[in-house]
Amino acid sequence: MTRTSQPIAIVLAAGQGTRMKSALPKVLHPVLGRAMVCYPVQAALDAGAARVVVVLGHGREQVAPVLTARFGDRVLFAHQEKQLGTGDAARVGSAAAPQHTGTFLILNGDAAAITGDCLSALLERHDGSSALLSLLTVKSGDATGYGRIIRNAEGTPVDIREQRDCTLDEAALREWNPGVYAVNAGFFREAIAQLDTKNAQGELYLTDLIALAAKKSVVADVTWAEEDLHGVNDRHELALRERVMRLRLARKLARSGVTIRDAESTFIDSDCTIEPDVTIESHVQLRGACRIASGAYIDAGCVLRDVTVSAGAKLLPYTVATDSTIGERAQVGPFSHVRPGSELGPETHVGNFVETKKTRIGRGSKANHLAYLGDGVIGENVNVGAGTIFCNYDGFAKHVTVLEDNAFIGSDSQIVAPVTIGKDGYVATGTTVTLDVPAGALAIGRTKQQNKEGLGIRLREKLRAQAAAAKKK
Ligand code: UD1
Ligand code: CA
Repeated sequence: MTRTSQPIAIVLAAGQGTRMKSALPKVLHPVLGRAMVCYPVQAALDAGAARVVVVLGHGREQVAPVLTARFGDRVLFAHQEKQLGTGDAARVGSAAAPQHTGTFLILNGDAAAITGDCLSALLERHDGSSALLSLLTVKSGDATGYGRIIRNAEGTPVDIREQRDCTLDEAALREWNPGVYAVNAGFFREAIAQLDTKNAQGELYLTDLIALAAKKSVVADVTWAEEDLHGVNDRHELALRERVMRLRLARKLARSGVTIRDAESTFIDSDCTIEPDVTIESHVQLRGACRIASGAYIDAGCVLRDVTVSAGAKLLPYTVATDSTIGERAQVGPFSHVRPGSELGPETHVGNFVETKKTRIGRGSKANHLAYLGDGVIGENVNVGAGTIFCNYDGFAKHVTVLEDNAFIGSDSQIVAPVTIGKDGYVATGTTVTLDVPAGALAIGRTKQQNKEGLGIRLREKLRAQAAAAKKK
């Protein structure tokens, strides 16, 4: 059935979330890297909501900017000054859309695992019926703490009873209310004015709308899976919801052609994009907005945040990388630390115990072992030997090291920036470079070696005699 107008969603998020025991508003707690409240808002938009009104109270000055940053003018805010109950919150939200004549889609800001699919199913049912109000219900799982769905002899929902207001018989009902409703705007405005606070909590209950609607029309309902509809009241529930969402994301990625060897131990944030034909081994964490291109291989234990990994790149175990780019067919790790601002070019090699920071490495260049490369600009086909250190910091300021194409840096060299080593320059092992090295030059800065014939043996004899004399004493 086609909708006459797009629904407007109202997301209730003014509560404090006391049970989180947190200085951070409950709805800002991250779930797969995104603030919890972003999920119900996104689901409402996915289901076709024209706008989403988010009702805020506690911590609204913190919550609003997060939503605006992500959703722009598709979200509006309503301010519930006092938390008088879900009925009052929904009324405050509806006042932000006074002209709306279609459907209000109402849901909770802590519905982290909710999806556009289940909201679409509810809206479809609502539009296809003559109901003034339709709701989602859950028939499985633990109903503890939730409102119970009361049905009449025909099996139609006629009321919702909060657990605290339930008789023993009502409390034994297993069907519960996830708090998701589609309501005709006209009926909503009229009914919301009739709510009272005669209940255990002395609040205006949005759930009392069901009994009012049942008097006027049939109440339509859609039964949906519990895993999508549980809310978050405390940190344990937060962990449970996140787990469901994490495995759901892993399933979706697998279906799109990504190999995830062990979904149970893999953590991928919602804002990551991963192309088909990527392989992710166990215990990998992809945080923030990582982009992993086709053919990339992320080996066990890698932890990446906001990293772009280009096609065919290979990250060996326990690579830690942040806010950086890894080029096509590059190879990084094991045990590399790629710090913010690193750009590792195509076919580069960065090996074990190599740390880079704000360093650009050109095509085909290699730093295979034990190096610190900070604030560097490295050209193509450069070889950086084991134990090389870019001495970029003099205690006051950072300085840049430039290694031009084909430069060769022998092992255990210190490059004291600012300094430039020219194209084809060659730094002998163990050199401390403090002056620019011209193109094609050899820089060698170490004392000359001398060999003394027979002295190795004589020295040993002397040392042995000294040690024996010391023992006798
Ligand atoms: C509500 C439902 C209950 C349902 C459950 C689903 C009512 C009376 N009860 O219960 O039937 O099973 O949700 O999770 O509606 N909020 C405000 N302003 C307020 C009060 C609440 O914005 O004045 C917001 C909260 O921030 C929260 C949502 O509304 O996001 C639900 O409030 P909460 O107190 O968690 O409702 P429950 O008692 O769990
Ligand atoms: Ca709740």
